[in-house]
Amino acid sequence: MLDRDDCLALDHGADSSGNPVAGFAARFAAGAPGTLYFDANSIGPMPLAAPERVRQVLDQGWRIARRRSWNETDWLDQPRKLGGSLSRVLGAGAGDVLVADSTTINQHKLLHHALDLNAPRDVVVVEREVFPSNRYAAEAASALRGARLRDISCSGELGEALAAGDVAVVALSLVDYRSSTRLDLVGITELIHAHGALALWDLSHAAGAVAVSLEKAGVDFAVGCGYKYLCGGPGAPAWLYVHPRHSQSVVWPALAGWMGHSDAFAFEPGYRPAASVSRHQAGTPAVIANAAMSAAADIWCDVDPQELDERHRSLTNLLIRLVDEQCAEFGVTVASPREHAKRGGHVTLRFSDAQAEGDVSALAQALVEAGVIVSSRKPDALRLASHPLVARHTDLWDAVSKLRGLLLSEQWRDPRYRRASV
Ligand SMILES: Cc1ncc(COP(=O)(O)O)c(C=O)c1O
Repeated sequence: MLDRDDCLALDHGADSSGNPVAGFAARFAAGAPGTLYFDANSIGPMPLAAPERVRQVLDQGWRIARRRSWNETDWLDQPRKLGGSLSRVLGAGAGDVLVADSTTINQHKLLHHALDLNAPRDVVVVEREVFPSNRYAAEAASALRGARLRDISCSGELGEALAAGDVAVVALSLVDYRSSTRLDLVGITELIHAHGALALWDLSHAAGAVAVSLEKAGVDFAVGCGYKYLCGGPGAPAWLYVHPRHSQSVVWPALAGWMGHSDAFAFEPGYRPAASVSRHQAGTPAVIANAAMSAAADIWCDVDPQELDERHRSLTNLLIRLVDEQCAEFGVTVASPREHAKRGGHVTLRFSDAQAEGDVSALAQALVEAGVIVSSRKPDALRLASHPLVARHTDLWDAVSKLRGLLLSEQWRDPRYRRASV
């Protein structure tokens, strides 16, 4: 059975490599005093440089230079520049990632684009239980274009769904937002391509937490949130990836706009798509949000994805072991896969007793009030998402000890915890 000193030893480098990723914590601002933050799958930690970047845009850019800033600064280049900075952690070519809009909007754009590219095929395959916004986008794209939606309940049904040879695009989440189960990016993309379909992946719960390799996997399109593990800040723009084989196509992007034109400031009456991923940027970039995100993007340029992955493995494997050792006797089980390669950013725990009380949010709320910031998904899933660039092994020990304390004392059953939902 591990004790806190074992965890301290891991923080000091005993986890095989003395992983340099631990050094990146110094580039992030501390969170609220007395709290342990396990909600990086909602909003990642704030880079130290972010407030000053935003202040500069507001003061120098908006207050003083105002309109001149469009010419004198890199505001217009930010969607490509930020995309370039994220490309390393996404395993993508530097010119193939764009930062713009929200994940949902990018999902819409790329579903329509895939249907255009792969016509006359007219089937969109999507998981029924995928993050709801992705399914709504697939439903809407199909309805709007008279295409057919084919639901699958898990990736195991994909072969059958593809067999008829009529699928234009398969839209999948790499990591399930509830259980954190991670799919096989390479194998499934291969299967999709073998049936002549295109692959659109949502990496929101993987990017910035574990190593991914979009280019090597031959993925056609991918999207993901900027505000989760990528630490772009609340409401940060999302990113989208387009494989270079689709960036030069004569097929227009779904949302043609001046910022995706090959010469935006020529103000031509006719649309000519840019010969790059930029064609998927329809309108003016979100300058202030991009300024906050640039602080995170600079950090991502410096992070070695394999070291990030190793750190994540070390932290989440430890979390699972601590939960097994300290909380199993109370009916808490690990719902995420135990093999690291099959797990995304967070670790999900199940707590059967919570279900008897209604749902798990009372335990989640009790944890939050004890300073352990977690999230829950009804009826019985508790999600713990520490950030691999910031978290320490001892944080995990402290959090699991608090969880054990609440279970032991049964304090979480106090009716006051039932009111809130986290
Ligand atoms: C897997 C996944 N996809 C998409 C979204 C939606 O992102 P957005 O609200 O930025 O469109 C979320 C939000 O949490 C998500 O978890």
